[in-house]
Parts: sequence; C-alpha cells; structure tokens
Amino acid sequence: MTLQSFGGIHTEIKLDVLENYLDAYTKALKNQKFQTVFFDAFAGTGSIEVPSRTESSEGLLPFIDVTTSDKILEGSARRALKLETPFHQYIFVEKLRRKSNELSRLKADFPALANRIFVRTADANDELERFCKDIKKQNCRAVVFLDPFGNQISWDTLQLIAETNKIDLWYLFPAGLGVNRQIREAGFHEPHAESLDRLLGTKDWRTFFYETKIENDLFGSTERSEKAVNAKGITFFMQNRMKEIFKGIVLEDWLQLGSRGVHMYSLMFATANPSAPAINLAKRLASDVIKSRGAARNRRTSK
Ligand SMILES: C[S@@+](CC[C@H](N)C(=O)[O-])C[C@H]1O[C@@H](n2cnc3c(N)ncnc32)[C@H](O)[C@@H]1O
Repeated sequence: MTLQSFGGIHTEIKLDVLENYLDAYTKALKNQKFQTVFFDAFAGTGSIEVPSRTESSEGLLPFIDVTTSDKILEGSARRALKLETPFHQYIFVEKLRRKSNELSRLKADFPALANRIFVRTADANDELERFCKDIKKQNCRAVVFLDPFGNQISWDTLQLIAETNKIDLWYLFPAGLGVNRQIREAGFHEPHAESLDRLLGTKDWRTFFYETKIENDLFGSTERSEKAVNAKGITFFMQNRMKEIFKGIVLEDWLQLGSRGVHMYSLMFATANPSAPAINLAKRLASDVIKSRGAARNRRTSK
C-alpha cells in the first residue's frame, strides 16, 4: 500500500473536523429528496503516515505541545466512506497516478459503496469546473473539500463553486505556507505575485498587505513599502473576498493550523446555498464541529 507522509496533530484536527461535519451533514439530509455528493479535490491515497515528532498544537487553545508518534491516519477519502449514513456519490480527485491507483483500491475495501465511488486522475481546478457545471443541472447537494499543500486553487474555481448555490465548502486555505511566506518584508517577487493574483482573484492585496511609509531626512522624503499583515490578516482578507461571492455564509470561525508555532493553514467554511434553512443548518453544523476542536472566534484585531 502506498502511504502519504505529511502533517502531524494539525492534520488530525483538520480531518476530525471534516469527518464530524460530513457525519452530521449526511444524517441531517438523510430524508431529503435530493442526492448528496462528497467531492474530495485533493484526495491523496486514503491513508496518511504521520511522522514521529513533537508538535505545537496551535489548532487547540491553549497552545500545548503534543508528541505524535509514527502512526497511520485515515485520510479524507476513507473517513468519508466509513460514515454511518453514506453519500450517494464520492468523487476523489488526485493529480498523481500512483496515489489515484490507491484511491481506486478503496472500492475493494468498501464494496457496498463501490458503484458510488469515482476516481479522477486530474487537476483539482479542471475537475471542479466540470463538476460545478454538472451539479447545476442535477437535483443534488455537495460538500467539497479543498486540501491542497499550497496555492493550487484558483479564485476562478472558488467563484464556480459559489455560483452553484448547492455546495458546502471546507477550504484549507494556505494563509501561511502559500501566502505569508511569499509576502516578504522588503516586497514581493513578481513571479510569486502572479500566483497570489490567481489564488486571491485580485491585485488589491498589493495595497492591503503593504503599507507605504514615508521617511523624512535632511534631503527630503522617501517612500518605502512595509509588510503590514501576518497569516491571520491574510485569512481575514480571504474571508472578506469569499463573502463577496458566497451567497450563503462564510463562517466567522476558522481554525488556525500548523506546526511548531507556525500558522501554516486556515481551515475555513462557506456555503454557496442562499436558502435560509440551508444556511441555518450549515452554520450550526460547521460551528459545532469547528468549536469542538478549539477554534477561537478569530475576530479581526488588526489588519
Ligand atoms: C494534503 S494532500 C491531501 C490529503 C488528503 N486530503 C487526505 O486526507 O489524505 C494534497 C494532495 O493533493 C495532490 N495534488 C497536488 N496538486 C494537485 C492538483 N492540482 N490537483 C489535484 N491533486 C493535487 C497531492 O498529490 C496530494 O496527494
């Protein structure tokens, strides 16, 4: 069996939140007339080997050090398949053939669900584009999980998800690893800027993430740019961007995740469905699962 090796306690927290949400979602919608779909856009293999090391569990409050041992975690795909109330359809997307082959083997492990499982060896953005078009014509609702290592998801993809009005979204937004690391004190490199434009769907971050400082000396004044955000501020920026396109809600609570005191990712939730009952349900379920894993209400205190 091919295992993926990454993460630590924050990986476990992220997957627990997802699993608890999927469990509550499928149970709550069990008797509805529409079908339910789980779309795992970065599905991996189904199992994760967590390397042995000591981590700071900043997803939890108060921050504590947790020693993880070498262990095998069930990944997002397996967790979705073992739910008490199954989805009608599971779409697992993975770019690497080696890993998607492993995903296909899940059909043997879950024979009762085999004809509901669809594995695609493809780019997440491409498959989501196709899926968002299809779902508009179908009587179904979906949960999409975006679990990238970095800046792979484009803003255009988020927009397509939002336009469906049918999708609940969990997004592991790479606020620290993907964005903050590229926003240097002294400015940004233009090739990195293009990747941020694509991720954030705007060039406005150039003015939001930097402040112009004016320095006066004997010879006059000079202007220079200074970095004005951290990963938390970047998350608020993204949250506000997402509020512009999701007609349901973008949850105020989100989870700060990472290793050794570094804020690497922000686990965020949004629903595209604008109907009041759908919003109320999604808000209640998502808030419950996220708070149970120690989310602080990450309110904006600074830029
Ligand atoms: C963090 S891992 C996902 C882990 C998975 N959710 C789990 O719980 O086991 C990210 C995965 O996305 C895959 N990947 C990277 N870029 C991708 C892309 N553009 N489209 C689809 N998959 C991609 C990687 O090969 C890797 O397996």
